[in-house]
Amino acid sequence: MPNTHSYRWTHKHLLSLEELSVDDIKSVMDTADSFKEVSTRSVKKIPALRGKVVVNMFFEDSTRTRTSFSLAASRLSADIVDFSVKTSSVSKGETLIDTARNIEAMGVDIIVARHPASGAAYLLSRAVKCSVVNAGDGAHEHPTQGLLDLYTIRERFGKIAGLKVAIVGDIANSRVARSNLWALKKMGAEVIFVGPPTLLPRSFAQLGAKVFYDLDEVIGEVDVVNMLRVQFERIKSSQFPSVREFTQLYGLTSERFTRCKKDVFVMHPGPMNRGIEISSHIADGPNSGILTQVSNGLAVRMASLFLVSQAAGAPAEPAKVSAVPEPAKA
Ligand code: CP
Repeated sequence: MPNTHSYRWTHKHLLSLEELSVDDIKSVMDTADSFKEVSTRSVKKIPALRGKVVVNMFFEDSTRTRTSFSLAASRLSADIVDFSVKTSSVSKGETLIDTARNIEAMGVDIIVARHPASGAAYLLSRAVKCSVVNAGDGAHEHPTQGLLDLYTIRERFGKIAGLKVAIVGDIANSRVARSNLWALKKMGAEVIFVGPPTLLPRSFAQLGAKVFYDLDEVIGEVDVVNMLRVQFERIKSSQFPSVREFTQLYGLTSERFTRCKKDVFVMHPGPMNRGIEISSHIADGPNSGILTQVSNGLAVRMASLFLVSQAAGAPAEPAKVSAVPEPAKA
């Protein structure tokens, strides 16, 4: 937990990393440290959210985030409902707000929401009484991805401040890039955005990132390289003339990798376009932290659900996660 004795997590919702303080970010990471141990037990469950109900409302496809939130809720002993948009009354025209209010009316404590529209999670948080956790809203933010990325970097280097982190590729469409930028800057890292001008507006410099259009200018200097998925489904044809050219200029190819620092840490939020933004050789190689990111996502999402639930319940004292004992073996 942060050293400041007066610190207390107060966020009933987790909507963006732009709105979190340094102490908030540290609090999620330190709480995740406590929860990580739970996944190593023979009985991978603690009663921290027993009696609470968590609903996954995903209006966009997901492998990692959805499964990770389901497992996180289950490990905290919450009941978890995976709301299926495709078979719901959304197909009959029911709005996002009406859908959420009807789900909430069944006694839900936390809605985990993914939606293609930026701002959808904010809208929901104003329309319902329960907690809302943003699992990705359009190109705006993906706060738990940003937190798990920082957690994984801290675990690897023992620090975040002073590191040079390059985030590469389709920046314009990336909620991961935005969440990483806010959090990494707050924690004292240098953030470098690299991509083609069509997918990296110069205005990103105003948010505090260094903007480069030539990956080879920076690739040898960075401690972390976070390769973003090219979001073909969101890209207009005029922004992207040739996949081959993109890979030549902005892909983490085997040849380009030879010019990286020896201990460079390679990240990717997934899903990967193998052979386009990253070569399989690098993604599966010893410098890759890609599957570690996924593993750490579980502990970070346990921490996120736990903290918003604590703030919603406003307990007199923050609960001591590490004090929850492992059940006696039978
Ligand atoms: N990183 C990420 O959000 O992956 P999913 O779309 O599979 O959840």
